[in-house]
Amino acid sequence: MKKFTISTTHPYDVIVGRDIIQDSGKFIAERFSKCKACVITDSEVNTLYADQVVESLKQEGFTTTRVIFPNGEHSKSLNTYAKILEALAEDFFTRTDIIVAVGGGIVGDIAGFAAATYLRGISYVQITTTYLSAIDSSVGGKTSINLLGGKNLVGAYWQPSLVICDYGTFDTLSPEYILEGKAEAAKSAFVSDANLIPYIQQDDFHHVVERCISIKKSIVEADELDTGLRQLLNFGHTIGHGIEKLSAFTVTHGQAVAKGMVVETKAAYALGLTSTDISAEISSILEGLGFDLSVDYSSDDLYRYALTDKKIYGDKITVVVPEAIGKCKLLKIPMSDLHEFIRLGME
Ligand code: GLY
Repeated sequence: MKKFTISTTHPYDVIVGRDIIQDSGKFIAERFSKCKACVITDSEVNTLYADQVVESLKQEGFTTTRVIFPNGEHSKSLNTYAKILEALAEDFFTRTDIIVAVGGGIVGDIAGFAAATYLRGISYVQITTTYLSAIDSSVGGKTSINLLGGKNLVGAYWQPSLVICDYGTFDTLSPEYILEGKAEAAKSAFVSDANLIPYIQQDDFHHVVERCISIKKSIVEADELDTGLRQLLNFGHTIGHGIEKLSAFTVTHGQAVAKGMVVETKAAYALGLTSTDISAEISSILEGLGFDLSVDYSSDDLYRYALTDKKIYGDKITVVVPEAIGKCKLLKIPMSDLHEFIRLGME
């Protein structure tokens, strides 16, 4: 078992290990006095892991309630968010009570946003059950829900009080879900550590989870509110979010980000933002991991979606420019170049 402390405005621990989920109550009790704990989860994770978490919370003297919503990106909505808030109010949750998110990125994002806003903010714990959430979304306090107009358009920065990453939970993930995690792991490797790639290829979850959390820790500590360095972690997401939305989420987040990283790499070179084209290298690594890199949408459609990107400030957008595997930089380009950037990336 390994513990990372994330030194943000509200510091917190990330506990990483195998088969530790059944001890969640103990880890939580070390940080919170007995109170009400609302376990928020989805329909799939509920049948796999929520009972263990609830039992261990009860053993430590917590009073538990549970909110379960259907698995899938469509649940990351205003509707689900409202249901969670009403459930908290109905059970008279106060500022000394807690939310415990048990699941992947969707559960963590929406439960975190409910925690950020209910009574103007209560504490929450993230217990991850997917590869993707263990290595990326659970750390850093980005909480959000989707609007019909786009992904993650409403949210708040609200750091969790504790994150528990049990990579034993990956045993119950389908190969498709494992691939989701590989996309974000590859992103971390492309952005800051080329040495990580063989470990991703060998499914060395122990090493990849710890290294990705360590990378994310350094980036989030340097730029908690995503005004600079942290935007590197958005590599592939300007295009990726558009692909997800245009496909009505039939293309999953990881698959879309993989396609997005290739488009954005080609685009950066074609627009003259970098002197080396590493898109073939990136494509070859991603294809080797099992990704289909074809894009079925037009540059016009992806451009329209990119207008919702959170890296737009006034008449400029920040793009991630890969210079070598493990080395990316951020550049601001005029919004007037964005359409051409996307068009060139898809040639
Ligand atoms: N998932 C990207 C970030 O947390 O900044």
